Amino acid sequence: MSETHYHDPKLSVEIAGIRFNNPVIGASGTFGYGLEFAELIDLNRIGGFVTKGLSAKSLPGNPPARIVETHGGMLNAIGLQNIGARAFIKEKLPQLKKYDTRIIANVFGYSDDEYIEAITILNDGDGICAYELNISCPNVKEGGIVIGNSPDAAARLTEKAKRASTKPLIVKLSPNVTDVTVLARAIVQAGADSLSLINTIIGMSVDIVKQRPRLNYGTGGLSGPAIRPIAVRMVYEVAGAVKVPLIGIGGIASASDALEFIIVGATAIQIGTANYYDPQVMIKTIEGLSRHCESQNITSLSNLINSISRN
Ligand SMILES: Cc1cc2nc3c(=O)[nH]c(=O)nc-3n(C[C@H](O)[C@H](O)[C@H](O)COP(=O)(O)O)c2cc1C
Repeated sequence: MSETHYHDPKLSVEIAGIRFNNPVIGASGTFGYGLEFAELIDLNRIGGFVTKGLSAKSLPGNPPARIVETHGGMLNAIGLQNIGARAFIKEKLPQLKKYDTRIIANVFGYSDDEYIEAITILNDGDGICAYELNISCPNVKEGGIVIGNSPDAAARLTEKAKRASTKPLIVKLSPNVTDVTVLARAIVQAGADSLSLINTIIGMSVDIVKQRPRLNYGTGGLSGPAIRPIAVRMVYEVAGAVKVPLIGIGGIASASDALEFIIVGATAIQIGTANYYDPQVMIKTIEGLSRHCESQNITSLSNLINSISRN
């Protein structure tokens, strides 16, 4: 086995019957369609990655300014720009086949029907191992309510998506809610195989000279290290409420950050914003997890999942 394909067996984890070589996954929207990173890191070494959100039809996204740096993070209002589900299958998937890594397709739509249409197209995508449903988006047919804020709407969409899907279904929770466990329970009851959390937190930044929002769209999604403690708290709460495997996301930039999420209940983790300032961050995190297991005599990283003491 060549050095580039070495995998530490202690790091292997399973989610909804899918085996990942390690629990470190690139987060949606920050890892393109995977190929963009193939020149920067060895894709064979990462556990997997999630595609940019895919819809049935391609979309241009929002006009600039779409990204603003903030203390310990960034705000983005990219919008859900993407090449469309069919183009992903035709143009990107064939090139991704040669890599030994898991590909998760992130899916969204502006109505339940649009989600189902995207899933139906992607069911033909040979090499997609699971779907991640982005429910942090407005439903145009329901007056713009965000599905991820309504337990009823989220459960209804999960049920339909599960029925339409030929692959395991991960539902990605929005943090912009009062009690994330209410959403988590409703979505699991409706048939989700796994939950990932968190998506970005709605924020705003102001240009004090122009007296205008710094983002053209007005508000944006906050990501990066600044949101990590919020994300850890939410994974901790959800792990106490449901039984399905969780994928922790939010400000992860090192093995110790990843371990916090695993200890409070995550089976795997995703790294987003940190990829922008350090393309090697996923590799370093995997190596750091191996070193931690070694130094702490941990025979399998999965022994640490939800090992936190709860009162
Ligand atoms: C520029 C950008 C684009 C994103 N696009 C998507 C997307 O298309 N679908 C989605 O579910 N999440 C999207 N996200 C959210 C991330 O996947 C992740 O949940 C969030 O950024 C928190 O993780 P982080 O702090 O490690 O970045 C995006 C985030 C950023 C920064």
